[in-house]
Amino acid sequence: MPQPFVLDPAGADPDAEHRTLRAKGPATRVDVLGVTAWSVTDPDLLKRLLTSSDVSKDARRHWPQFNDAIQTWPLALWVAVENMFTAYGQDHRRLRRMVAPAFSARRVDALKDRVENIVAELLDDLEKTEPGEQADLREHFAYPLPIQVIGHLMGLPAGRREGFRAVVDGVFATTLTPEQAAANTVALYAVLDDLIATRRAEPGDDMTSLLIAARDEDGDGSALSENELRDTLLLMISAGYETTVNLIDQGITALLTHPEQLHNVRSGRATWGDVVEETLRLEPAVKHLPMRFAVRDIPLPDGQVIAEGEAILASYAAANRHPDWHGDSAESFDVTRTAPGPEHLAFGYGAHFCLGAPLARLEGAIAIRAFFDRFPHAELAVPSDQLPRVASLITNGHQHLPVRLKPAV
Ligand code: HEM
Repeated sequence: MPQPFVLDPAGADPDAEHRTLRAKGPATRVDVLGVTAWSVTDPDLLKRLLTSSDVSKDARRHWPQFNDAIQTWPLALWVAVENMFTAYGQDHRRLRRMVAPAFSARRVDALKDRVENIVAELLDDLEKTEPGEQADLREHFAYPLPIQVIGHLMGLPAGRREGFRAVVDGVFATTLTPEQAAANTVALYAVLDDLIATRRAEPGDDMTSLLIAARDEDGDGSALSENELRDTLLLMISAGYETTVNLIDQGITALLTHPEQLHNVRSGRATWGDVVEETLRLEPAVKHLPMRFAVRDIPLPDGQVIAEGEAILASYAAANRHPDWHGDSAESFDVTRTAPGPEHLAFGYGAHFCLGAPLARLEGAIAIRAFFDRFPHAELAVPSDQLPRVASLITNGHQHLPVRLKPAV
């Protein structure tokens, strides 16, 4: 068997890497920081696997390497957490049901005014930038919005929201040593334990307090164990903003580098919702999603077999640009693109489909639209190919997004 293709931990040139993966066939073996997995880039095969009961996210039950991996693999946290993200079957339904109602389209719609107000305040601050001066939109726009929204929903005390940022960034970084990753996990659990203690002492009208109440009323842990409580908070807080930051960052970058597409929106040929969907397709916030496992042998269309117990990596970014799905223009940004059916897999597919998709879409559309309304002459302060990427094979954003908001006078 050929050696697995080694994925670049720093994700320095993802487009070229994903082209190579697609050229290797619907699924190919890759090395993910020392762990071998099948990277699946064919959209049809990926959808089939994501809806199959032969595929599980529960590493404890379905990955023979689990005990070794959690000692040494820098991404151990991604498979070790005990929440809906890693749960299978009945456990998954139980854990997802506890939080799902709070993220329904109706509940999210009710957040619209709050999101608009936060966006307006952030833009008011950016307005103070002198003509010709640069502002880092990642730092001063893309980050603070999702942090404030998820902070409100989860009941994170205002003064402690920034404290979550470094440790959540650490979850998505894939260039840490196993020791650095383990230290980040310790720091992460310290802030989560602190949050639980605070909300236990002073419950509020928020998701953390609701989950604590569900856990404490139940008593025997059958509804939610203490680990599940902690790891559900970890999931909601980390999934709740790191990804949305990337959506806002990538959406603004794409429109600044494709003025003709901005023109399509301004002239009514496309909507701000189309901008969000096309950004999610071309530059999905999550490039590869670790990890799934074959519950039994799975034959592939090309005759290969994913053997029972082998790991599977959902390579969403590569699948989204598959020419079989989006034709010759699959690698270009086109907000007027009309595809049959769902246009991308940025939120996953099947039972684990992103719970926060309505919220992410709401925040993305409001933020990107308001930004271009307020700063119609904004331009990137460096060429787009010089924007430094976040060093990660998972998350897909820039370290900074320097933009000149107003022309020099
Ligand atoms: C642009 C923004 C976002 C993107 C691209 C995104 C993408 C994803 C992806 C790819 C998955 C994993 C699917 C899989 O298992 O393969 C996921 C799961 C999840 N996301 Fe999001 N997400 C975003 C925003 C959010 C927000 C704002 C929240 C919450 C407030 C959220 C909560 C979750 C949760 C709870 C799961 C786990 C669902 C499950 O395992 O059943 N996400 N998301």
